[in-house]
Amino acid sequence: MATVYAVGVGPGDPELLTRKAERILRSVDVVLAPVSNPNEASVALGTIRELIDEDRQEIVVHQFPMTSDRARLIPAWQEAAALIAANAEAGRSVAFITIGDPLFYSTFIYLLRILREQWPQLPIEIIPGISSINAAAAEALLPLVEGDEKMVVIPATAGIEHIITALAHYETVVLLKVKPLYPEIIELLRATGREHSSVFVERVGSPRQKVLTDFSQIAAHSPDYLSLMIVK
Ligand SMILES: C[S@@+](CC[C@H](N)C(=O)[O-])C[C@H]1O[C@@H](n2cnc3c(N)ncnc32)[C@H](O)[C@@H]1O
Repeated sequence: MATVYAVGVGPGDPELLTRKAERILRSVDVVLAPVSNPNEASVALGTIRELIDEDRQEIVVHQFPMTSDRARLIPAWQEAAALIAANAEAGRSVAFITIGDPLFYSTFIYLLRILREQWPQLPIEIIPGISSINAAAAEALLPLVEGDEKMVVIPATAGIEHIITALAHYETVVLLKVKPLYPEIIELLRATGREHSSVFVERVGSPRQKVLTDFSQIAAHSPDYLSLMIVK
């Protein structure tokens, strides 16, 4: 029985990969890379591709639809888990790669649940990665929290009312998945006087990285999926 690894590859900059992640990625038999759209490249795979020796290692790209419809997601999770288990049971080690950290809003969390339930004998190791939040704060030179301050992370898709409550109770509010609710978020930040304490970061760690601190630029921007905001 070979080991299954979930490897956090960081936000996209290959230099933000840990030495442990690199060692494991060079050693496994199979690398499983998630994509949400079959016509788009896997960001995680792009980050680590140069480490993989395709004469010796197999790369499998698996599609997980970008939807909250569990009827479509569950079969994709189940299929990926079965593929991982079949390889591990055949003695082939597998690394499921994930952007940022594997236990932080990652598809691997669902796979982990299925694997532990249906293949409890499989050895699983998690290799933590640098999350997009830490990388974004670093690029913006923005301390996340200090002293007794409190921070909350909200996927904006949870709903604007959660953001309103968070702004009233926490010194730092990190908003992930801002794209679908962007106009409402901008309006809220304006209404609560956060124009000078909001930072927008897109595709941190990649050549397409954008760090915006000027609110008029933030408001005029049209974000892509890999975007977050830090509001103090
Ligand atoms: C499903 S979560 C994945 C989080 C990831 N596991 C992590 O540790 O950063 C996806 C959200 O994370 C944020 N994100 C991930 N990578 C990013 C990047 N390179 N730049 C900016 N935001 C990013 C965006 O808010 C995106 O909508």
